[in-house]
Amino acid sequence: CWTMQHPEWRHYEGAAWYSRSFHADLPRNGDRVLLRVGAANERARVFLNGAFLGLHVGGSTPFFADLTAHLRPGANNLMIEVDNTRRTDAVPMQHFDWFNHGGIHRDVELVTVPAVCINRLFLQLVERGIAVDVGLSLQVDGIATLDFAGLGQFEINIVGGAGTVLLDLSPELWSPDNPRLYDVAAQFGTDRVADRIGFRRIERQGTSLSLNGRPLALRGLCVHEDDRDTGRVTCESDIRRRFAHLRELGANVARLSHYPHHELVAKIADEEGMLLWEEIPVYWAISFDNPHTFDNARNQLCELIRRDANRASVILWGVGNENADTEARLAFMTGLTKVARAEDASRLIAAACLINRQTFRIEDRLAEHLDVIGLNEYFGWYEPGFEGLQRLLANSNSDRPVVISETGADAAPGLHGPETQLFTEERQALVLTRQVQIAATAPYVVGVFAWLLYDFRSERRQTRYQRGWNRKGVIAEDKATHKLGFHALADAFAQHFNGPKG
Ligand code: GCU
Repeated sequence: CWTMQHPEWRHYEGAAWYSRSFHADLPRNGDRVLLRVGAANERARVFLNGAFLGLHVGGSTPFFADLTAHLRPGANNLMIEVDNTRRTDAVPMQHFDWFNHGGIHRDVELVTVPAVCINRLFLQLVERGIAVDVGLSLQVDGIATLDFAGLGQFEINIVGGAGTVLLDLSPELWSPDNPRLYDVAAQFGTDRVADRIGFRRIERQGTSLSLNGRPLALRGLCVHEDDRDTGRVTCESDIRRRFAHLRELGANVARLSHYPHHELVAKIADEEGMLLWEEIPVYWAISFDNPHTFDNARNQLCELIRRDANRASVILWGVGNENADTEARLAFMTGLTKVARAEDASRLIAAACLINRQTFRIEDRLAEHLDVIGLNEYFGWYEPGFEGLQRLLANSNSDRPVVISETGADAAPGLHGPETQLFTEERQALVLTRQVQIAATAPYVVGVFAWLLYDFRSERRQTRYQRGWNRKGVIAEDKATHKLGFHALADAFAQHFNGPKG
């Protein structure tokens, strides 16, 4: 992120250029050389040896550019322009409560693939076994082989570049207690794609969730991808530290707010047995009546789903956060739920909704299109007292599971005082304790996601306790200093939402 390279660049919003000269073996017999960018915030244009190859919009999902036609012997000049200017037609739009880090913030790789390569390999547990879905880069026919470690070798008949097969297998199921992964490899011609995949069932019946047929309660925290020293850039140790803190809290799920996080997060969650809610940044106000904006949101959603389709840890796709209920928003978000279901019928769809202030109920016209209704509410922080939450829950009912998708309070690390005093650690501890206790009294509430694990940068937070940081973390931005709220939340999760482990 250029925003972290020099103090003068911290608040620069605009275009910046990355350039690199490289030597690549010229591709032979029809191979193609692709550039893969893990993510660039927020729009990226790729040029090779002066030729414009393409534009990608969306700051948190991977994209490719085909370099083949413009590669030359010797030095090749790759340039990528990244622009993080906030736009009224973008996703997210101009206003959001996190830092607008600009730049290429994930890995950049050169990938050589045969002309006919496997670009889709999706395995999912279905009623009668495992459904395997293979897609190729060209519409050719043939036989793909699937090597399923421990379960055998199988063939998939490919017609017109695609093929599916139902394998009558009963794999050992993946769960947080037993994160069983299988090594799978698919081969077609000279191309081979390998993955490590867990198999599990996530379902809802009425107002309950179940994982592999057993009741599931969600003890969660939200997490931003933000680091005091590296901005949006994360790494394996940062991710494993995050999961260690979540386990210390007794959490079994993380909400990766408010945009797709690094692809390593879901892979490590698969290994460690942490459930995930992943989402796209359809956040607050969006140009809901702009078809280009919908295309942008749909593209980010598809890129996220296609990237993480084989990740057992991911149980929920989130299509939005705190969007006021208007006709345009309803059409836009309903459209996104349809896109998500068409891409992936194996997971549940959620959104973080707002309280219906007219009826003072948990009520949203989008709810009928969701499997899980998320509710963001801050009784005890933005709204005084907790009786409002009790009234809201008593006022409401639901025919599908509800989770408190955000709740919490700011606490300046080290600020102590009576729990009636805002910004003290004592206040945050009280809010988190009461929130979990009260949420647990509603039979249709199946979980809570506390907002959030670590303090994070946000320019809009400028009280004397914040100075550019949102301090609702239960751990400070050093990702080490635990606040009283950490222990209060751990205690609350030890008493509530800890039904039979998923
Ligand atoms: C909102 C929003 C978060 C924000 C939080 C807060 O619910 O979804 O992105 O950071 O409230 O006020 O701290």
